[in-house]
Amino acid sequence: MKVWALVLVAAFVIIGISAVDKNKFKTCSQSGFCKRLRPFKPEKSQYSLNLDSILVHGNVLSAEVVTIDAADEKRTVLWKYAFKLSALADGTFRVELDEADPLYPRYRTQLALDGEPKADGLKLISKDDGKVILVNTQGHKVIITSEPLKLEFLDLNGEVAVVLNENSQLLVEPLRARREKVEDEDGDGANQLDDEEGTWSETFQSHHDSKPRGNEAVSLDVVFPDADHVYGIPEHTDGLALKTTTSGDPYRLYNLDVFEYILDSRMAIYGSVPVMYAHGPKRTVGVFWHNSAETWIDVVNYGEGNVVSSLVNLVTGGQKKRVDARFLSESGIVDMFVLMGSTPGDAFRQYTALTGTTPLPPKFSLGYHQCRWNYMDEADVRSVDENFDVHDIPMDSIWLDIEYTNKKMYFTWDVVKFPRPAEMVANLTAKGRKMVVIVDPHIKREPGYFLHEDATELGYYVKDRDGKDYEGWCWPGSSSYPDFFNPVVSRYYSDRYRFENFPGTSKDVHLWNDMNEPSVFNGPEVTMPKDCRHYKPPQDGLEGLAAYWEHRHVHNEYGLWNLRATNTGLLDRADGVYRPFLLTRAVFAGTQRYSAVWTGDNTAEWSFLAASVPMCLSLAIAGNSFCGSDVGGFFKYPEAELMTRWYQAAAFQPFFRAHSHIETKRREPWLYPAATTALIRDANRKRYALLDFWYTLFYEHTVDGLPVMRPLFQHYPDEPATYPIDDQYLLGDALLVKPVTTAGASSVEVYLPGDGPWYDVDTYVPHKGPRITQPVTISKIPVYQRGGTIVPRRERVRRSSALMADDPFTLVVALDANNSARGSLYIDDGETYEYKNNKYIYAKIEFGPDEMTYTLASEGAQYPTGAWLERVVVAGIRAAPRSARLQQDGRQTALQMTLHKGNDVLVLRKPAASMARPWTITFAY
Ligand code: GLC
Repeated sequence: MKVWALVLVAAFVIIGISAVDKNKFKTCSQSGFCKRLRPFKPEKSQYSLNLDSILVHGNVLSAEVVTIDAADEKRTVLWKYAFKLSALADGTFRVELDEADPLYPRYRTQLALDGEPKADGLKLISKDDGKVILVNTQGHKVIITSEPLKLEFLDLNGEVAVVLNENSQLLVEPLRARREKVEDEDGDGANQLDDEEGTWSETFQSHHDSKPRGNEAVSLDVVFPDADHVYGIPEHTDGLALKTTTSGDPYRLYNLDVFEYILDSRMAIYGSVPVMYAHGPKRTVGVFWHNSAETWIDVVNYGEGNVVSSLVNLVTGGQKKRVDARFLSESGIVDMFVLMGSTPGDAFRQYTALTGTTPLPPKFSLGYHQCRWNYMDEADVRSVDENFDVHDIPMDSIWLDIEYTNKKMYFTWDVVKFPRPAEMVANLTAKGRKMVVIVDPHIKREPGYFLHEDATELGYYVKDRDGKDYEGWCWPGSSSYPDFFNPVVSRYYSDRYRFENFPGTSKDVHLWNDMNEPSVFNGPEVTMPKDCRHYKPPQDGLEGLAAYWEHRHVHNEYGLWNLRATNTGLLDRADGVYRPFLLTRAVFAGTQRYSAVWTGDNTAEWSFLAASVPMCLSLAIAGNSFCGSDVGGFFKYPEAELMTRWYQAAAFQPFFRAHSHIETKRREPWLYPAATTALIRDANRKRYALLDFWYTLFYEHTVDGLPVMRPLFQHYPDEPATYPIDDQYLLGDALLVKPVTTAGASSVEVYLPGDGPWYDVDTYVPHKGPRITQPVTISKIPVYQRGGTIVPRRERVRRSSALMADDPFTLVVALDANNSARGSLYIDDGETYEYKNNKYIYAKIEFGPDEMTYTLASEGAQYPTGAWLERVVVAGIRAAPRSARLQQDGRQTALQMTLHKGNDVLVLRKPAASMARPWTITFAY
């Protein structure tokens, strides 16, 4: 090595600079289909719809689409396609385009949808002048232009909201049989390969992809007129609002284990959710590209300063606001859902209506999680557990990373370090705490390991291109990977979670599925080769290539199959009585139905703390509200201030877990100076005080499908200043959070949308927007409660959430300009499915100048909670009542009241009403 290189390496080591090895991952030009098709933008699309073939039946229009070369006067049909437009419930359409008669079936993504989408009515209005006009039940029109094929979706005002194939980038590469050579077609005397390089094989570094089916890419462009921004398509480290990609690569979706991923990047990382929303003052709409293959997405925002203005005029005809996007996938069919909005909430809900919501989590999982790679033995676990009590910090679970196993063989224990797992768990559950253990999908190829032996014998592994068990390298060394696509394999895998099959576990041991992209250390781009083979249900007459799927078709979906099998196992092990908690790293559309997600291996740097907000926001609008990032950062060591700010930020993010790399210095809260420990304690207590608020939000998500963590524009769609904001967010519609994510901050700028007022949750001081400068000390977490809302709190300090079950509530009423406010509260047993048998309380709480009411909003639902009302705090009071009386169960009690601060905070003391039954407080003036 040259001297300068040595110096450089030494400098990196000393100052600790490290970043992703970009060479391991493909750029667009190294990804065959992206390179081939990114420049594809013909002047005129070859695709046209045969008007005579149209059939409208129920909610579906079907027709034949053909390709014809524009220059061909004879109009010879090149290829035939089957086209379908379906009207779906709740303002959603689906557009499908597949080959009419493919050589063998093309892959259709299997698990993303939460069942068959619900149909809506579809009526044909007219069919002339080369156009077909249809309308759904709600009144959204679709105009199909037959040649070239174009689809325009109109909003309820009759304005064009979404256009497909405006830019002529619709493409389905037909499947062809491979001909080794084409005989001298051009007559130059030489035999030729049947087409360009890369069709029948590709090489990346030392990895060869055999591509037995040749090119089979699909592509479609979307235009969003009037949009200021587009959002979504997680997981990237870029901001929430997506950027124009004309310089550099498109956004990439390909689930990958990216070591030391970098920020502000469009590179693919662990998750891929191909849903995109477009928003502007006129409307919000969305598109969901239902495809599990490697996908690249280009974006051009014509309103962005850096898009050349002559281009804007040329393309948009002077339209100032418009965003174009283009989805390009390696395989599959064109299958695009169009979500007509019209508000952001509508579009988000339309997406979860298709792909599902996060089921109600067990309550403990909304508390604080303590993780590390690794708690090394039972004594270590015990001491961490005890220290949380010694330092009075609430905590709900301790996690075990891969070292708890016998040589990384999952479903086993290292019997030397963890000889008595059941006792260890019982020690935790005695305090209402839980344990979470990791189980990765790679299986160690170890003779004698039951799982490996079963899988080998029964043929349960994913196969390589030659049909042999695929072998890759992961944590255990040589490993193979279960083929969850085979229902028998998934069933077998689910059964490994049965208590009798996984000794030491109980209903209080929950799960973490990591490395499920899948990660393969020696594979191409650290994952499984695309020509590996997956199970396909056998069908008569289908053989050869038609008898299996390749990994390239299913890649982004692999983790989802892993999670589904685990989830089934966790439900079945407890006979469906207890709600499981599961965490995943790989993400795809639909993951939210089974698992919480985290943002993987981040770094202990301020910029990564800041990035946790847009990363989780973008996952949240893509259905995955239950999101968090490793508190403190996984790599490197967070100094006290960064660690403090990270706890403070994460205490207000849905999934709240500290985690760290095995080679980093230990960093449990008490290992910092006492002042820092105290600040961490305070942050955790703030989390626990709001646990019922979180729980209620997650309950409401199961009903309305809306994100728990929300971008500001969701509730303020008419306020353009909110559109780009991704360093602050809303929890439900009540709290606004602006975490401090910079070192040495003495103030932060906060944007307060709407009319407000927004009350500082620590002081009840009301603020009016749109912008304030909030002074911050190291103990300050800027959080504001919107005037017009009621937030439930519990102020008793406990060791874990379970111990708070019967603790009393404080209701914080933040008044709006009309002296009123409303909120809700959900209560149940926190761990079973009994709520499905009506054993729960969902209360609506309303405050008006004359009375405050607590009513049970779900008919027939009851839960005998011991919790009671200890205090009502009313902020923003203008005229204090003279007296207040509580009525419950036919009894009346006069309440004590005090006025605080500048006489605008009223506290009602000890109403002592039971939260199990309705009550009313009446005020007299
Ligand atoms: C992966 C995970 C990380 C975990 C480690 C060991 O890097 O992202 O969270 O600690 O594997 O299992």
